[in-house]
Amino acid sequence: MTKGQEDKKDAAKVLDFDHLTFWVANAKTASSYFVSRFGFKPLARRDANETNPIQAYAVKLNKITIIFESPTTSEGAISNDLTAHGDFVKDVAFAVNDLDELVRRATLEGAKIVKGITEENDKDGTLRYAVLKTYGDNTHTLIDRANYSGLLLPGYEATDSDPLDILLPDTYLKFIDHVEGNLTDGTLESTTTWYEKNLNMQKFWCVDYKHDLVPYSCINSSSVINQDETVLLSFNEAAKGLNPSSKATDFVKALGTSGVEHIALYTDDIIASIRSLKARGAEILSWPPTYYDLIKEKLKDSTVNVLESIEMLKEHNILIDFDDRGYMLQAFTKHVQARPTLFLEIIQRRNHRGFGAMNYKWVFEAIERLTPATDKDN
Ligand SMILES: [Fe+2]
Repeated sequence: MTKGQEDKKDAAKVLDFDHLTFWVANAKTASSYFVSRFGFKPLARRDANETNPIQAYAVKLNKITIIFESPTTSEGAISNDLTAHGDFVKDVAFAVNDLDELVRRATLEGAKIVKGITEENDKDGTLRYAVLKTYGDNTHTLIDRANYSGLLLPGYEATDSDPLDILLPDTYLKFIDHVEGNLTDGTLESTTTWYEKNLNMQKFWCVDYKHDLVPYSCINSSSVINQDETVLLSFNEAAKGLNPSSKATDFVKALGTSGVEHIALYTDDIIASIRSLKARGAEILSWPPTYYDLIKEKLKDSTVNVLESIEMLKEHNILIDFDDRGYMLQAFTKHVQARPTLFLEIIQRRNHRGFGAMNYKWVFEAIERLTPATDKDN
């Protein structure tokens, strides 16, 4: 390979998340749930037709775009996947800067190309994309938007705003912080390497990996990040810990294969976000009250300055993870599908790049501290 080819190879990269595609039984109601409960705005729709019997609705909130697709016939890939997995996240699409080079590289590296470079046109220009297979039945669509100015993808038409929107509070969710997948046993390393080889991403080391939390989490984890640090993907596989099962094992059993377990949505004000999400009827997981007693004790020994009061975090079911330099706040929704597979994480960071791994231990300890009396209080 010449120096020029080498430079081109290194320069080809993932720029950002473009959108997520969920395959669901009823795209109309699933998209409406994300509008009413999480504050997304209706963006666009693409109606099914004979050559493309897929009905699609897209919603958007700041930089987060989700497309919900449903089949209108019992034949085809979506129907087959829905039978196997239930509703699930099928595709995580990335905007890329050099589609040709990334596809060339992935082909050479032996990645499965589900759809080679394809061009679609409409009045807003030409969109170029390709689709690669990744873990489980999931794919990544790589998108080149250089010559396309439409609001989403060719074939989509703008939809009306939702009348509920003006009645309900803003949820302040800004962008996708990370996407986390649970993997079948023994595939963590090969999956991580897949992103390094095919998408020019790098292993991401975070403070979480400094601690041995496997006894509590019962998982092994790794993550990758793109060069611009705008796309963070993390992965888990089952490991032997204190519990006979792990969240990765349970997830894989429920979905039937590896897949996306949660999408973490970033906010600059997690307390305001959770307050609004609850007001909209989103279901947020709660924690034992003893967790917050434990946090108060641990913070006494730390130099980190937490701006939010622990009482506020407790009231809003927000977890915290920290070291001496910073902290992150996180809360979780209950599962949003019929199967116990996908949920959302709401996250705010203050100089902390972890995923909240210490909370496996702290929630575990908090549960151990529960007495019958405190249990009743919660
Ligand atoms: Fe997460």
